Order: sequence, then structure tokens, then C-alpha cells
Amino acid sequence: MADNDSRTEGARFSPSVAARPQPYTLKGSAGLDWGMQSRLARVFRPATNRTVMLAIDHGYFQGPTTGLERVDLSIVPLLGHADALMTTRGIVRSTIPPASGTPIVLRASGGPSILRELSDERIAVAMEDAARLNAAAVAVQVFVGGEFETQSVHNMTRLVDESQRYGIPVLAVTAVGKELTRDARYLRLATRICAELGAHVVKTYYCAEDFDTVAAACPVPLVMAGGKKLPELDALTMAYRAIEEGAAGVDMGRNIFQSENPAAMIRAIGAVVHESAKPQAAYDRFFGRPAGGT
Ligand code: 5RP
Repeated sequence: MADNDSRTEGARFSPSVAARPQPYTLKGSAGLDWGMQSRLARVFRPATNRTVMLAIDHGYFQGPTTGLERVDLSIVPLLGHADALMTTRGIVRSTIPPASGTPIVLRASGGPSILRELSDERIAVAMEDAARLNAAAVAVQVFVGGEFETQSVHNMTRLVDESQRYGIPVLAVTAVGKELTRDARYLRLATRICAELGAHVVKTYYCAEDFDTVAAACPVPLVMAGGKKLPELDALTMAYRAIEEGAAGVDMGRNIFQSENPAAMIRAIGAVVHESAKPQAAYDRFFGRPAGGT
């Protein structure tokens, strides 16, 4: 029973001290609702406003690609090194330990396999199920210039409408079709369309020239996709340049889980992203020998 005898008037009102606002500083996110900001703060480390997202959603259109044959064996041991895991609800429910605490960025579009036209996607997850899974964000592919461009943009805008209701941010992935060039002009177009139409985070590829203009023109955080497997030092260099030129982190898959040493690679990427470590230094630190050495 409550004991009223010991109740005293509080004396710690500090009336002369102004309330301390703590604005959320992630690019373009200051005006979002609390739940949205809270989820973004799980994905982007508040100390750096950057993220190392591990992308393992390839199976949703490619099946068991190299390195993802057994997610329980190859990926679960890496979870402690990832700021977030981009994956499908099937893998989450079947294989990812809930106690890992790794924020989930849930693949929410799908449909065609690699045997068909990839841009012909639909929304593949209800936002209610994303909420049930405690997803930190949902991810949707946007095929600017693709055969089903409008449909994929519409998938994104419908998810954005739902995301505003649930407070779950949307990560738009700018998909580059076989015939489209990954130059700054195209990437500026694709990323800006996603942000203008409401994406809270945009994922895109790195381009060697003028990536800084792609990042500058995107009003929300941009994360760099990894793409096909490169030698480790080259992948670290690409991540380093992307960060230096304005990316808020990476969302990499094959360059991590297809590495000769995935644990060393994700830790080296973490040093590049969060500590601005130089690529060679990060490589030497986690692989234990100079790149190209024996
Ligand atoms: C699929 C995706 C993948 O998550 C991502 O692009 C694959 O990562 P990586 O290219 O680094 O293997 O969005 O289109």
C-alpha cells in the first residue's frame, strides 16, 4: 500500500536552468516523429550518425547465393559486429536469434526471381508484420529507369504512407538494371526521387566520380551498397571514399560474407565507417598482415 507519510515535496526543480533540448542530428531526420527517430537511432549509431548494415537479403530473388547457404553458420556469428541486419522475414523468424538485439531492416518488396524481369516487384510485407517483428526499418527496391519504374516507385510511396502510421522508417534501395550506368548523373536522379517521395534513408552504389554530389543532393542519409565481390582492400577503399564524400554508412553484403575472413572484414569496415580509419590501416589491423602480403 502506498505510504503517504514519507512523501515530501520535491526540491530539484532547478527553475533557473532552461530545459535542455536534444535535437536528433541525423541528416534530414530532425522533424520526424519520436518513434521514427528512435528506430533510426538503433540503425545509425548516435555517436557517429553512421551505420554498418550487413545485407543478406539476396535470397529473396537469388536463392542461396554463395556465402548465404547456411545463414545460421555464416551470418549469426557476425551479428555482434553489425549495426543492423538487412534481411527477409523468413530468415528472421527461422534463423536470427531474437536475443541478438541486432536491429532488423526488413526486406519488404519482392516477386520476380533472377529468371524474370527484376523490376516487376510488389510490396511483400505488411507494415503490421514489420511492427510485429520489431523491425527498425523496412527496405524496398526502386527501379528508376527500369521497365516497371512507376510500379516500384508506387511500392515505395505506399510503404512510406504506412511507415508514417507505424513510425517505421523506409530504406529505398536504388536498383541499377543491367542496362543502366552507375554514374553520378543517374545516381543523383534515382536517390533524389526516392528522398523526394518520402524515403527516410536511401541506399545506392558508389561511383568513382562525383559521388559527393550524389550525397549532397540527397536530403536524407545515404548508405553505400557494396556490389559484387572485390579484393578486401579495394572494398575498404570504396567504403572509405564513400564515407569521406558524404555517405552515412554502408549496407554491404557480398564484400563481407564472401570475404576470405568475414569477421575481419566487417570489423575493418566498422573501423572505416565509425573511426574514419584509413583502408590499409583497417586491413592490417583486422587481417593481421599487409594487403597482398603473405
Ligand atoms: C538487393 C539489395 C542487397 O541487399 C544489396 O544490394 C546486396 O548487397 P551487396 O551488393 O553488397 O552484396 O539491396 O538488391
